[in-house]
Amino acid sequence: MKNICVIGVGYVGLTTAACFSDLGNKVVAVDISEERVANLKKAIMPIYEPGMSELVERNMQAKRLFFTTSYEEGLADAEFVFICVGTPSGVDGEADLRYVRQAAETIAKTMKHPLIIINKSTVPVGTGDWVSNIVHETQPNPIDFAVVSCPEFLREGAAISDFNNPDRTVLGSTNREAADKVAQLHLPLRAPIIVTDLRTAEMIKYASNAFLATKISFINEIARVCESLGADVKEVAAGMGYDKRIGNRFLEAGIGYGGSCFPKDVQALAHMANVHGKHPQLLTAVMEINDNQRLHVIRKLEEMIGSVEGKVIGLLGLAFKQDTDDMREAPSITVADYLHEHKATVRAYDPVAAENALKLMPYLQMSEDPYELATGCDALIVVTPWNEFKQLDMERVRDVMRQAILVDARNLYEPQAMRDLGFAYRGIGRGYDGNGEPV
Ligand code: UGA
Repeated sequence: MKNICVIGVGYVGLTTAACFSDLGNKVVAVDISEERVANLKKAIMPIYEPGMSELVERNMQAKRLFFTTSYEEGLADAEFVFICVGTPSGVDGEADLRYVRQAAETIAKTMKHPLIIINKSTVPVGTGDWVSNIVHETQPNPIDFAVVSCPEFLREGAAISDFNNPDRTVLGSTNREAADKVAQLHLPLRAPIIVTDLRTAEMIKYASNAFLATKISFINEIARVCESLGADVKEVAAGMGYDKRIGNRFLEAGIGYGGSCFPKDVQALAHMANVHGKHPQLLTAVMEINDNQRLHVIRKLEEMIGSVEGKVIGLLGLAFKQDTDDMREAPSITVADYLHEHKATVRAYDPVAAENALKLMPYLQMSEDPYELATGCDALIVVTPWNEFKQLDMERVRDVMRQAILVDARNLYEPQAMRDLGFAYRGIGRGYDGNGEPV
């Protein structure tokens, strides 16, 4: 059993706190938001994440997991402190480090004994050294500490299983003893542990996210070529994926990536390259393809329906991906805003993101289920690949729509099956229909 303090209870912080406590450690999680902490004490989660509330409740009951707004309480017994605060995009795509600075300064002012400070927030390369300097400069009296970078690779919607089954643990530090102690904490996860210097660990995180985003933009570009040549991108991706050098994951063509990580991290990496006079040619293309992909979906709709003015369009799903209520950089925003600006009526259904979505797009007309959504619609667009959309009664959907037009921006359905049901159907990169038209 180790004593751990976690600063920040967003996605990464809450998962880190809950999962480390579940491994038998004592974890005190600190957040500056009184409301968040009060809610967590009552097992009310700040985010929707499958399995999280059960995990938090169980570990609170076992007296291994505590929430507080007080750094004093958080650091009282801690040997390790994880910084898991947000790093939003600032001007020019630069990561905004104000919360990391606040956390480092407060740790420095509060600590009464030696600490290992572990950075889990995604931060620009060089931030570990910067945090170290802040702590040195802010400490009223010198107390030993070490900074270790331990980037997080978990996905929203799969956070708990990703934490418990990592592909690798990356640790960066110039202090080998501290890195070894953090490695001990991760041993129960039985993943390969890579120990590097601080900057290399920070770079591994950016390079990994940028590579995954590149895979997505790559397959979206291939999808567009498939549409012109009559090939099916789903089969192309499957055929490529059997090659172990390529792998079959993150090759799903669709509406492009969103969320709080890929858009921000690719931009931040490009910014770091630019600042140092390196032209980030590939990263720039990845971002451009991603932006265009959202517009590409809108073009598909317009090709089928003509002008959207006065039409009723239903969005199946709003969250940036399935199994989350996160609306950050969600492609649905670009699509809905466009439709609204062009005087369409925009309806939507999402199993969990409706509340968050309405804050951003108050004009949305929310439905209680997919069938209510479809009723009277001129077209439906599949924006988020929620599982519950895969087995809809599509005959019923067709019958309640005003026009049976379906833009499947996540390739959930089989084009021929949809056409057989009488839908005018377009997926992403699915080749030609029987009349030589792209689907
Ligand atoms: C991503 C990474 O996958 C995690 O490893 C990383 O820890 C995390 O960012 C982070 O930096 O915190 P996340 O943003 O939760 O995780 O979601 P992903 O599952 O990676 O999906 C990102 C976006 O890409 C979503 O919009 C998703 O719909 C889209 N996507 C994903 C595709 O369009 N095609 C695919 O084949 C895969």
